[in-house]
Amino acid sequence: MKWNSYIHAQNVFIIGATWSVGRELIYQISDYDSIENNHTHPTRILGVANSKKILLSVDDTSYSGLSWTRDANINADITTHGIVLTAWYDSILWSLDILGISMSDIVFIDVTADGSRANLDFHLRVIKSGGSIVTANKNPLALSSIEEFYLLTQDRLRYLYRSSVMAWWPAVSELLNAYDTRNKVHSIEGCFSGTLAYICSGLEKWESFSSIVRDAHTRKYTEPNPWDDLSGHDVMRKILILARTAGFQISAEDITIKPFIDKGFSGYTSNEFFDQIEALDGAFEAEIRSSQAKWETLRYVAKLWFNWDTLQVSVWPRYVEKQSSLWSLQGTHNKVIITTDNFVTEFSRPWAGIQNTANSIRVDLAWLLKKRIA
Ligand SMILES: NC(=O)c1ccc[n+]([C@@H]2O[C@H](COP(=O)([O-])OP(=O)(O)OC[C@H]3O[C@@H](n4cnc5c(N)ncnc54)[C@H](OP(=O)(O)O)[C@@H]3O)[C@@H](O)[C@H]2O)c1
Repeated sequence: MKWNSYIHAQNVFIIGATWSVGRELIYQISDYDSIENNHTHPTRILGVANSKKILLSVDDTSYSGLSWTRDANINADITTHGIVLTAWYDSILWSLDILGISMSDIVFIDVTADGSRANLDFHLRVIKSGGSIVTANKNPLALSSIEEFYLLTQDRLRYLYRSSVMAWWPAVSELLNAYDTRNKVHSIEGCFSGTLAYICSGLEKWESFSSIVRDAHTRKYTEPNPWDDLSGHDVMRKILILARTAGFQISAEDITIKPFIDKGFSGYTSNEFFDQIEALDGAFEAEIRSSQAKWETLRYVAKLWFNWDTLQVSVWPRYVEKQSSLWSLQGTHNKVIITTDNFVTEFSRPWAGIQNTANSIRVDLAWLLKKRIA
């Protein structure tokens, strides 16, 4: 091994490497965290995977492992040079043998949107075997049982999930701190969807509902099928993760959820969906007109209240009055207000998006560095 002893690379395996967040993460690693940038802890990508193939770095003399510049096509490279291993997440674990590396010497990064039981089991196996994970994927945190959630997250320095909710802004960190110092949380309230914030902001300016949704889709603010945002499930998963982080032992079934538009719009392909929702334009216009006359405005809100041992968690479209701190949100801005025994904390920022989410994952990787060199 021809390594300089002053340089300690951090080995990573990126699962979900090919599209939005994963691809941006790889580009940022080569832009900022490489040996070429004089990084004393370069990030060394030893493996990448999409849903079909795995590509491994077999050159153990390289500080960078796999690397791509921004003009390179990562997906094409994985498709051409990757290997198909059928037992999916097992294959990722087996690849540690091919790489000749132990579980404690690599960080797995999950930037998929995989909500399968196999994905959750993979997270559990890594953590139980002494490994580390950084995840932007909310599903293992939201779909796990309460016991599994605490098993995953109990070691603060091996399971980092700050990128999964309000990536880059410290919602998860604040609640972990509150929990660890037994500072009781009374409420968590906020707007957690950049897409729905953008839609509400457009409605306020008298744009038609269907044209705002089309525009948000073109700007890639929505999921490929916008119903996935409008159903409220993504927001539900976020408040659930925050609630569990604060120590509340709840699951998805304990949350009351009302979608932004009627459930009847759920069964369409995205093209059909855009045509169907034109039928809602008139009703939205009338509602916004009447709410503005009352100095109210529409927001998609998630709220947790804890009062006298009673916990209530709801996600729903709500007209908020001018005094509400959710009133002034504009564009894709998200907001959270956390009230505990000792403090009220509030932050509002634009929706994280792809670049900030990738950046936030790199911040978590920096947290995991052991024996840091100046
Ligand atoms: N986009 C954002 O701004 C944002 C912000 C915060 C958090 N997030 C979260 O970050 C995650 C990724 O979002 P994204 O927008 O990058 O999603 P995306 O564009 O759909 O990319 C998902 C990636 O995961 C891969 N994948 C899917 N299932 C897999 C499996 N079973 N095993 C291995 N790879 C698999 C896909 O590979 P194929 O190409 O083979 O399908 C693709 O590379 C999501 O959980 C999302 O909620 C996103």
